Parts: sequence; C-alpha cells; structure tokens
Amino acid sequence: MVKPVIAPSILSADFSNLGCECHKMFKLRADWVHIDVMDGHFVPNLTMGPPIISSLRKAVPRGEKDGQATHFFDCHMMVANPEQWVPEVAKAGGDQYTFHYEATKDPVKLVELIKSHGLKAACAIKPGTSVEVLYPLAEKLDMALVMTVEPGFGGQKFMADMMPKVEALRAKFPNLDIQVDGGLGKETIGVAADAGANVIVAGSSVFGAKDPGEVIQFLRDTVQDSLKKKGLLD
Ligand code: DX5
Ligand code: ZN
Repeated sequence: MVKPVIAPSILSADFSNLGCECHKMFKLRADWVHIDVMDGHFVPNLTMGPPIISSLRKAVPRGEKDGQATHFFDCHMMVANPEQWVPEVAKAGGDQYTFHYEATKDPVKLVELIKSHGLKAACAIKPGTSVEVLYPLAEKLDMALVMTVEPGFGGQKFMADMMPKVEALRAKFPNLDIQVDGGLGKETIGVAADAGANVIVAGSSVFGAKDPGEVIQFLRDTVQDSLKKKGLLD
C-alpha cells in the first residue's frame, strides 16, 4: 500500500529565492521538495550541493504533523562517487538520498551507508538502464526512481516508453514507493499514474504554472484515483 507524494523540483525555482520557493511549495501542499544535486561529471550540468541544502534546512526547519515528518528534502544525487556525499547530505539536513545505480559499484553497501547516516535510501535508473537491476535491491530501498528523461536538465520531454519499467516494478512490489522524474505535468501524469508511479517529481510544470497549487492538486488527485483503482491506496 502506498500514497500519492508530490515533490516539486526546485531546479525550476528562482535560485535567488530558494528558501521562499520551498516554503511556497509546502504551503501549496507539496509533500516533499525535490533537490537535484548535479556535479558536472555524472551529468553535464552543475547545480547545488550540501551547503545549499544546509542553508535551506535552516530556512525550512523540520516539523511534524499527524506523526509524520514535514518539510521533507528529497535529494536526487546525480553525482559520480555517490558514497562521498552521504555524510555531508545527512549533516546538511537531507531526508532521503537517491543515488544512481550507474554511479556505484556496490549498491547494497551504499544503501547500508545511507541508512547508517539516518537517511532514507533510494536508487535511480537512467533511461538506458534495465529495471531488472532494481529487483534484488528493492526490499532494501525506501524508494525506486525511474527516470523519464536523461538526467541533467529540467524542461525535457517525458519518455512514455519508460512506463513498462514502472509497471514491472509495481507488479512485483505493491508496497514500494515508485518515483518518476522528468517531463511530468498535467498532460503526462495520467500514463505515469496508470503505470503505477506514486511519487511524482515536477519542475517546470509546477514552477512555470500560473497556479502551481492547482497543478499540485491535479497531480495528487490523478495518482490517488489510479491507486484507488488498483486497490493500492494506503
Ligand atoms: C532532471 C532532474 C529533474 C528535473 C525535472 O535531471 O532530475 O528533477 O528538475 O524537471 P521537469 O519536471 O521540468 O522535467
Ligand atoms: Zn531529479
């Protein structure tokens, strides 16, 4: 059983105003904010790292509502050598650490390292990576991320041909949080939700909208309906 989680990606936010942008998303009922860490090696782009996560955590402290942690920072680590940044992201105030399967030699050991630092552990696969690599890991993971664009930039076109991966994961792991990232918005959420994704990253479609709160609500309602139809709703 899973629930819908909407995670706006602050890669599309105003970088001169990141704290306010995070607050705004949480006020608009985003469940998480998605923080895209890029190192210029694993992907051809440079974004932000632990010092920014740390400043954001000070501006957006953790809270609690109905026994659940609020202001959750979902850190998508598009970096070579993901082992290196686990302690710093934990110290900076990240909540979840999503590494790329392609970037590590020992994913099981990395999951253990992430958990030993008190972070939730998630594993992402690029469009060219087979979903089968996630099967032996899934029981140990808090979330799996199926990329629906080549990682590196916001505003790219959603790859609907990644949906069989989501379907295969959902069929095997009904209780796993399955995230999709890249090109998600009102036009593409239907297929992603029908495939079984329940954690939705959305950058340009939320931050570029006239009414971001309405987009967040639309994404959540669509996922909620699909999960209900499948009998998977928490
Ligand atoms: C791409 C990032 C995404 C990106 C998504 O490498 O991982 O999180 O911000 O942006 P949109 O939703 O605009 O495709
Ligand atoms: Zn991302």
